[in-house]
Amino acid sequence: MHERQARRDPARRPEWRPDLESEAPDWVAEKVAEAVIRKSGRELPADAVLRETLRAERGLAADATREISRLVFNYYRWFGWLDATALMERQFATVRDLAERFAREPESFRDADLARAVPEWIRSEMNVTPAWLRSLQAEPRLWLRAKKGQGTALLAKLGVCVRPDDPAFPDALEFRGTSDLFRTPEFHAGEFEVQDLASQAVGLLCNPQPGETWWDACAGEGGKTLHLSDLMGNKGLIWASDRAEWRLKQLRHRAGRAKCFNYRAVSWDGGAKLPTKTKFDGVLVDAPCAGLGTWQRNPHARWTTTPNDVRELGEVQRRLLTHAAPSLKPGGRLIYAVCTLTRAETADVVTAFNAAAPDFEPVPLGETEATLTLWPHEQGGNGMFVAVWRRK
Ligand SMILES: C[S@@+](CC[C@H](N)C(=O)[O-])C[C@H]1O[C@@H](n2cnc3c(N)ncnc32)[C@H](O)[C@@H]1O
Repeated sequence: MHERQARRDPARRPEWRPDLESEAPDWVAEKVAEAVIRKSGRELPADAVLRETLRAERGLAADATREISRLVFNYYRWFGWLDATALMERQFATVRDLAERFAREPESFRDADLARAVPEWIRSEMNVTPAWLRSLQAEPRLWLRAKKGQGTALLAKLGVCVRPDDPAFPDALEFRGTSDLFRTPEFHAGEFEVQDLASQAVGLLCNPQPGETWWDACAGEGGKTLHLSDLMGNKGLIWASDRAEWRLKQLRHRAGRAKCFNYRAVSWDGGAKLPTKTKFDGVLVDAPCAGLGTWQRNPHARWTTTPNDVRELGEVQRRLLTHAAPSLKPGGRLIYAVCTLTRAETADVVTAFNAAAPDFEPVPLGETEATLTLWPHEQGGNGMFVAVWRRK
């Protein structure tokens, strides 16, 4: 029997010791992936468990860590096709077959088959189309944002990147390589950020001008703060708030690398007491959400998110908007963005805000639409919903 086959036979495996396996054969990858999957759950998202596990198993070769990540993500991507009572080894074999077949001949999956890609309850919250389901089963694309006006220069330096078809994103590049971007001199020099295309669209829709005063109310680790700052040419001021201090710490670190100086990071828990009495030209509420727009990148969340999460997050989003809105100057713009697609977190939030805030008027974003939904199968990034109002 071939050595690799022998190791696939559980009875013949030595005790698993990854540090012994510089070549990391398939079964080691499966063992680690299985451990990650068994540990993951609603309170412990698989991507966090995976990160933690890979950090602890420093002895693994780069191609082994790639294979482990692929196994874990593909497991949840194809979970709807699996017999959960089968041995994990059998399930991994099924996942490999499905993922390979989808990459080779996606049309062999009929629309009706693809319904398994998401839980049934989601149909009461959105119009589930075959195109969206297909996009969920493909590997996500990796997007970079160059500094303003530097897209072409960055492309020349990094190579292995392509520009998006849409000219609305002049500084975006899709990375097609496999090397570690975080080790490049360009990353350390702050010449680019890894930022999904849909998130870049939010910054562009905000369209902040140099010298203005903005509030990024749910700034998190600063992905959009850095973009706003770049669009403002580092001139003016951005108040960047979040309720998670550890995220703001990360924001400060990233801002240092990106040489972004026109911001002030402050804590805000989303309550009625605002972090400042300043009146703003623009407020971005990039609210916490159920994240359906990221289900391509984060397939574990498909199986842990509940209708109750969606309802509760809808309430939080309404509260955040209501509390943040009065801080706008007359004529100032309020931007609501969520990387989700459920009715409760998109159209219902907009309807509720329109009723509660008569001093705000919707700003049209499409030819006829007052709101914008970005779809993974249209732009190639995450799904995202955006609404904009102007204070009268
Ligand atoms: C979608 S994330 C923000 C991502 C960030 N804007 C970016 O572009 O990188 C939502 C953020 O809202 C924060 N958050 C959650 N609940 C909040 C609340 N009640 N008040 C303020 N921030 C909250 C979370 O900590 C999280 O960082």
